[in-house]
Amino acid sequence: MVAPSLLAADFGHLEREIEMINKSEADWIHLDIMDGVFVPNLSIGTPVVEAVSKISTKELDVHLMITKPEQYLERFRNAGADILTVHFEASIHLHRTVEEIRNLGMKAGVAINPHTAVSELEEIISYVDLVLIMSVNPGFGGQKFIPTSPDKIRKLRNLINDTNSNALIEVDGGIDETNAGMIFEAGANVLVAGTSVFRSGDPVKAIHELKTAK
Ligand code: DX5
Ligand code: ZN
Repeated sequence: MVAPSLLAADFGHLEREIEMINKSEADWIHLDIMDGVFVPNLSIGTPVVEAVSKISTKELDVHLMITKPEQYLERFRNAGADILTVHFEASIHLHRTVEEIRNLGMKAGVAINPHTAVSELEEIISYVDLVLIMSVNPGFGGQKFIPTSPDKIRKLRNLINDTNSNALIEVDGGIDETNAGMIFEAGANVLVAGTSVFRSGDPVKAIHELKTAK
C-alpha cells in the first residue's frame, strides 16, 4: 500500500491535491501533526484534518508527532482520523493510549524513531494495528532514507510473525521509486511518501510507481 504524505503538498491548493489522491491508486492519505515540542517543527492541527476528511475518499492515516498524544485522541477521531498513530517515545502509558484509540473506533498505530529498538515493542505488538518505522528523524519532509531501516523492518517482521500479530508495517521518510522495492522486500506493508509524490511532475504516476515497485 501507499500513503502519500500531505506535508509536501501545495497547501494553497489543498482541494486539488486531495482530488488528485482520490483518483490515484493511493490507499491512505498520511497527515503529519507536529507540535514544535516533540519535533522541532510545526505543521497542521484538527481543522485541516477535518477539511481533508470532507474531500478525501481515502482513509485518513494520522501521524501524531506530539507530546501527550493521549490528550487529543477524541479530537482527531472527531476530525475524521481512521488510523491514529502515536510515538512510542511520547507515550508514557502506551498500552492505555492504544486501547483508547481502539475504543474510539480507530485503528491504533505506534511509531518508533530511528534510535528506538524494535525489541521495545515486544509487549505492545499484540495490541496494535500498525507499527510505523521512521526511516528519517521525524519533523521534516525531504530527508535522506536512513540505510539501516530495512534491518529494523526485517526484525519487526520477525516479531510480528513470532507473536501471531496482525499489525501492519508502515515506513515513513525518504522513500522514492529507487528504494521502495527494497522496503517492500524487507517486509513493509505501507509506504509513506511526501516529496517523491508531490514534488514529482506527475504525482498519480509516482504513486503508481511506488505501488508497483520491485
Ligand atoms: C516526517 C514525516 C513524514 C514526511 C515524509 O517527520 O513523518 O511523513 O512527510 O516526507 P518525505 O517522503 O519527503 O521524506
Ligand atoms: Zn509521517
